[in-house]
Amino acid sequence: MSNVMEKDIDHVLLSEEELQTRVRELGRQISQDYAGKEPMLVSVLRGSYIFMADLTRAIDCMCLVDFMAVSSYGSGTTSSGQVNIIKDLSDSIEGKDIIVVEDILDSGNTLYYLMQVLQARNPASIRLCTLLDKPSRRAKPIQSDYVGFTVPDAFVVGYGLDYDEKYRNLPYIGVLKPEVYEK
Ligand code: PRP
Repeated sequence: MSNVMEKDIDHVLLSEEELQTRVRELGRQISQDYAGKEPMLVSVLRGSYIFMADLTRAIDCMCLVDFMAVSSYGSGTTSSGQVNIIKDLSDSIEGKDIIVVEDILDSGNTLYYLMQVLQARNPASIRLCTLLDKPSRRAKPIQSDYVGFTVPDAFVVGYGLDYDEKYRNLPYIGVLKPEVYEK
């Protein structure tokens, strides 16, 4: 791995191997739970793109994929609860079994809002799958149906997660050195 990113990482929280093993387990679980159905996996960009790619390949039932992008108006490292849909889904979700795929459930502000928006479109069912869960920071009453890992309140990057739009391409999840975001 290139030193240009590595030098900013304090330590590896979840290795590439740990991530792959857990994502395969989640895929197996979803495949069992949705056997005989045709769920639509909704990836919320951008943070979920790598998780989505690995998760969908670990699911062996017939499934559909769609993508949306939202932005929260918060500044810095926390979201504010106001969410803007930048890119909406391409297809209707009415009557479909929806699995929303996210990289992290943190304060819950983004997903609390987003799940309400999607629920109002009358899907047959809707569940949430998040790779990471940071329950210590929760500000909204929301929990994930499928969780990869519960993580402590540290600034994590890699495997899709960014700081200032960077580090998404690290193949593992690492804790960023505080001096990187405090400067
Ligand atoms: C991240 C993540 C969730 C949200 C979680 O997105 O993908 O959407 O923050 O935080 P919350 O629970 O406090 O709302 P971010 O705004 O960093 O955008 P990105 O997906 O483009 O990285």
